[in-house]
Amino acid sequence: MTLDNRSTSQRRNLTDEALIQEVLESFSHAESPRFQAIMQALIRHLHDFLREVNLTECEWHQAITFLTNTGQISTEKRQEFILLSDTLGASMQVIGMNNKKADGATEATVFGPFYVKDSPHYQNGDDIANGAPGDPCFVEGSVCALDGSPIPGALIEIWQADEDGLYDVQKPSLSAAAARGQLLTDAEGRFYFRTVSPEPYPIPSDGPVGDLLRAARRSPMRPAHIHFRIQAAGYETVTTHVFKAGDPYIDSDAVFGVKDSLIAQFHRVEHGHAPDGTRLSEPFWTMQYDFVLMPSATHER
Ligand code: BEZ
Ligand code: FE
Repeated sequence: MTLDNRSTSQRRNLTDEALIQEVLESFSHAESPRFQAIMQALIRHLHDFLREVNLTECEWHQAITFLTNTGQISTEKRQEFILLSDTLGASMQVIGMNNKKADGATEATVFGPFYVKDSPHYQNGDDIANGAPGDPCFVEGSVCALDGSPIPGALIEIWQADEDGLYDVQKPSLSAAAARGQLLTDAEGRFYFRTVSPEPYPIPSDGPVGDLLRAARRSPMRPAHIHFRIQAAGYETVTTHVFKAGDPYIDSDAVFGVKDSLIAQFHRVEHGHAPDGTRLSEPFWTMQYDFVLMPSATHER
């Protein structure tokens, strides 16, 4: 009997295999072919998984409780499902599939939960730390196209953790953005700003995802990095990080986001003249990174 001529009155006494076929068939009249394909693949993999591990009823209830807790701890400011996706490698898988880059173009990595829209506007040369604690760090670089031509006026959004390993949004006492901001590349496609040196930090582990990591004896740590999101008319937006070379967690990132091409040297200077011309008696860092954007799909260049 084909799926199409099976009547609903026969949806009973289903054996394991017939059950799967019946569930698949229940999605066969969906209006959207894409929705149908996604749901049917999901059903096939879900049932294969259930049968492969021979899931017990107790384990099924545990899974339901885990997902319920994941939803219940999520708020506008805390997205535990994104954290779950990140720690299962699903975020990097989706990013990898959807951001195929030409050789030389800056690679994308996880967005993370700490991005804030409409961050403060700065000029090149400004200090975006705005009081965030940490060693001063002078960042400079450029944004250019695949052929090396500079991209003036590219919008660069920056956010990072401070020396406490915390983002401003994780510090309830802070009322203003810190170690976060946006600026534009100059006429030569260059950007430069002062911030604080980023430190490694644990992803939030006080919820169900933390329980999952502990059950797996996995570290919640991410290597030190600065987040960048770069947009320019006619180019694909890239959301990425620049990681600090030599970080102890560079090869054990809790969310699998590190790429060789995104690792940069952060140079430590004991004291002396900083790139902005000031003289510092304390240690500071410098870091240089050049971003390369892909032309947008709708924009032939
Ligand atoms: C972050 O880099 O901000 C981040 C990414 C994934 C999960 C948690 C934090
Ligand atoms: Fe981060």
